[in-house]
Amino acid sequence: MEVFEPKIVAFVCNWCTYAGADLTGTSRIKYATNVKIIRFPCTGRIDFMLLMKALSNGADGIIVSGCHPNDCHYTSGNFHARRRWMMFRGVASYLGIDLRRITFSWVSAAEGAKWAEVVNKATDEITKLGPNEAYVKTAKKFQSMDN
Ligand code: FES
Repeated sequence: MEVFEPKIVAFVCNWCTYAGADLTGTSRIKYATNVKIIRFPCTGRIDFMLLMKALSNGADGIIVSGCHPNDCHYTSGNFHARRRWMMFRGVASYLGIDLRRITFSWVSAAEGAKWAEVVNKATDEITKLGPNEAYVKTAKKFQSMDN
């Protein structure tokens, strides 16, 4: 029997979480390898349509992570992201996406161990949920209606 390995896309800010993830590696902390990182200048720049696109193209889960409150290098990008995040969760839930597939976190450049924890926890949760097939089927149905 084939073991399910979830595909998780992590949208992270360059200044904190990306550096934190780098620290995880240089500190040789072991963590799940299921995450593909996409780096942004700031979480405030993340367009949530990208998250929908990732899910409809086969991602089983999403992580969005940036600087802690009041540490954003662009002053308030992470606060804007948090507000949009709350709206996105509402829309995602309406569209039938299980919210346990989506993680929002703050990880600083000094928190390599925390990044490993975030990834491992998300991987465990999404492994239990299984593949994101229900939403992918719905998204493909809507895409075919456009053509
Ligand atoms: Fe990291 Fe804005 S620079 S969240």
